[in-house]
Amino acid sequence: MKHFTTIYDVPDHNKIIEEAIQLKQNPLAFSELGKGKTIGLIFMNPSLRTRLSTQKAARSLGMEVMVMNLDKESWAIEWNDDVIMNGNSVEHIKDAAGVLGTYCDIIGIRCFPTLTDKKLDYSEKILIQLMKYCNVPVVSLESATLHPLQSLADAVTIKENWKQNYKPKVVLTWAPHIKALPQAVPNSFAEWITKLDVDLTITHPHGYELCKDYTRGATIEYDQEKALKDADFIYVKNWSAYNDYGKTPEVKENWMMDLNKYQLTNSARIMHCLPVRRDVELSSKLIDHPKSLIQQQAANRVYSAQAVLKTILMKLPSKQTNIHALSLEEA
Ligand code: CP
Repeated sequence: MKHFTTIYDVPDHNKIIEEAIQLKQNPLAFSELGKGKTIGLIFMNPSLRTRLSTQKAARSLGMEVMVMNLDKESWAIEWNDDVIMNGNSVEHIKDAAGVLGTYCDIIGIRCFPTLTDKKLDYSEKILIQLMKYCNVPVVSLESATLHPLQSLADAVTIKENWKQNYKPKVVLTWAPHIKALPQAVPNSFAEWITKLDVDLTITHPHGYELCKDYTRGATIEYDQEKALKDADFIYVKNWSAYNDYGKTPEVKENWMMDLNKYQLTNSARIMHCLPVRRDVELSSKLIDHPKSLIQQQAANRVYSAQAVLKTILMKLPSKQTNIHALSLEEA
């Protein structure tokens, strides 16, 4: 595995899920693997779980970690090629990424969407430009369209709580929110969970349809109560519209998941990726419910990141070839 930006970068998704479950048993089993290697974690947006779990995962593998809030702590980046830089941007991504690649053996980046320009966001320009110019493996810490580290942790959590010899019903339900949020978590959840041997139903109000590229294989149900019936896992998440891009069409009905709706389920396990707005997206009683897996999901972020970094480290050449080394050889 060279990069980790989608499930399609992973040669065997079942194997990496099992790898994370194994690492959870003994997180320091490969503490020498990353010795002498450095990961750079670049954030363009806020984070609690991704920022800390990926650091913990890298350190458990023996790696050095550097973290930078690129949007606030560095020069303004020019992401477009072939522009005369006489505006506000100070440094081109070609130069910045090249430098990062000489300092780091792996680079992680968080780069949220604009939610105003669908074509730009779904082109994953920032991620692609970094991968093009940094010369080292890139791990998505949540991009404009996908959050694969979260989805791997979600898959691990479902696997841990899945009764053997039983095909569970998993329901991803849209939830209310006070602002427009990206589609990255639900896109990614659908992309991963449709590859497992489960029945996935996605329920949302009219106007909140996700991009079909990610939901193929899932049942779409506009009636939330019908969708929740006999569910074994409920994944609660808000997202903004994909078709009327980034908009939040008015929803008159009550879509918040609460104890009354919970009665329709098969004593379902409750999931949410966090952060959650209590009693807006999901009732506090369900967040704190004995069947809630929300803290377990967050804990599993560490072992999921560790499984990804371990897989990449195993494939790294012992000596990274970078532009600087090449130019010294050529000189
Ligand atoms: N779930 C998740 O990615 O959390 P953070 O945004 O805090 O990293």
